[in-house]
Amino acid sequence: MAPKGKIKVLILGSGGREHALLKVCLRSPRVSDVFVAPGNGGMAMEAKCYPVDLSKPASVLDLVQRVEADFVIVGPEVPLANGVVDALEAAGISTYGPLAAGARLEASKAFSKDFLFKHKIPTAAAETFHRLSDALDYVRKQSMPIVIKASGLAAGKGVVIALTLAEAEEALRAMMEAKVFGASGDEVVIEEFMQGEEASIMLMVCGEEYLMLPASQDHKRVGEGDTGLNTGGMGAYAPTTVVTPEVERRLRDEIIVPTLRGLKADGIDYRGTLYVGIMVTATGPRVVEFNVRFGDPECQVLMPMLETDPVEIMESIAAGTFRSSSVKLRSGSTIIVVLAAGGYPGDIRKGDVIELPTQLPEGVDIVHSGTQRLSDGRIVTAGGRVLGVVAHGATLKEAVKKAYAVVPQVRFEGCHYRRDIGYRQLRRDEGV
Ligand code: AMP
Ligand code: GLY
Repeated sequence: MAPKGKIKVLILGSGGREHALLKVCLRSPRVSDVFVAPGNGGMAMEAKCYPVDLSKPASVLDLVQRVEADFVIVGPEVPLANGVVDALEAAGISTYGPLAAGARLEASKAFSKDFLFKHKIPTAAAETFHRLSDALDYVRKQSMPIVIKASGLAAGKGVVIALTLAEAEEALRAMMEAKVFGASGDEVVIEEFMQGEEASIMLMVCGEEYLMLPASQDHKRVGEGDTGLNTGGMGAYAPTTVVTPEVERRLRDEIIVPTLRGLKADGIDYRGTLYVGIMVTATGPRVVEFNVRFGDPECQVLMPMLETDPVEIMESIAAGTFRSSSVKLRSGSTIIVVLAAGGYPGDIRKGDVIELPTQLPEGVDIVHSGTQRLSDGRIVTAGGRVLGVVAHGATLKEAVKKAYAVVPQVRFEGCHYRRDIGYRQLRRDEGV
């Protein structure tokens, strides 16, 4: 159980995911104060924000000690991969997020594929390469489509699905020769293409004990009907019935349990979020990728699905005492519609003033991502994904209706969004 006495929390990050985590902390009876580093325009309206270089564990530790935080929640992957949790825990500061050893599951696709193969967890066949000539020889013998991935962190952009051999060769040259992702392309994974529908599985993990949050679906393409360029995610909803009870059973037995067992067997004491991206294929669920943090925008739809205080869950995971049987989930569905800046996912406009509704209906909230608060209090655009409208309803249909009623009340030059978030599930719900 969580220790008594209220706590001061520091949230690391600046996206919609971290704004959703801030809202959780502001509602939590466990929390006396909450700070954010570095934060965004929306977070600045609700909490004190501090500038910090999240990639530097020493700078983060210094800030934690300055604000006297009792508990730290790490949002994004870079501080995790760089050992921020290791540094904080060594200084005796309780932190939610895996140590660097566990964060390798996201930081190195080569490591994560080796882990999956070693523990016989269903995933796409793959080979890892360090030399362009070897990669080219290999890819010329494969059938298309094929998937080419920069092994290191590439902010979600290091994956190319090549439909032809020419595209595959071009992707390999870009990563391994032109180094478009820098050192992240020194090692490249070439992977079998898996056919199916994707789902995001968010686990809150404490060793072999875990909570599986409702399965969600992201919408990665910029255009309606999943067309156009890839983005960080234009919207999400949960739960999704792409994960049927049978898929869920196989997911738990064939993927989750062997993964947590494998981590333990490999000497990794994993505590934090484990995001398992799966493809629901004709032969069952298979792992597309691991991330070691909440998805963005999945986090924004999952936090409202928890009836139990998420802060209490995170604290008990950090302490190693978590029991999933104590957690209660809410019924209904949640959706987020992301509003993006002009030009996104290419070169974006910045600095456009954002007009926000002064009042929101019950069950609707606005979560900021790429926004900045000016000294005169105005909020302007400052990133590709600007903000999201989150709505909870008894059904997905109701949540969709609520969200899209508010979306047009948010105005800024160049704003664009998808009008079809949740469409696959709406079709399934209607039996189409
Ligand atoms: P990743 O960064 O590994 O999640 O890849 C980004 C996206 O590329 C995934 O969300 C999938 O949509 C797609 N993708 C990655 N690997 C595969 C694969 N082996 N087969 C089909 N699609 C894939
Ligand atoms: N929404 C996908 C991700 O957070 O990686």
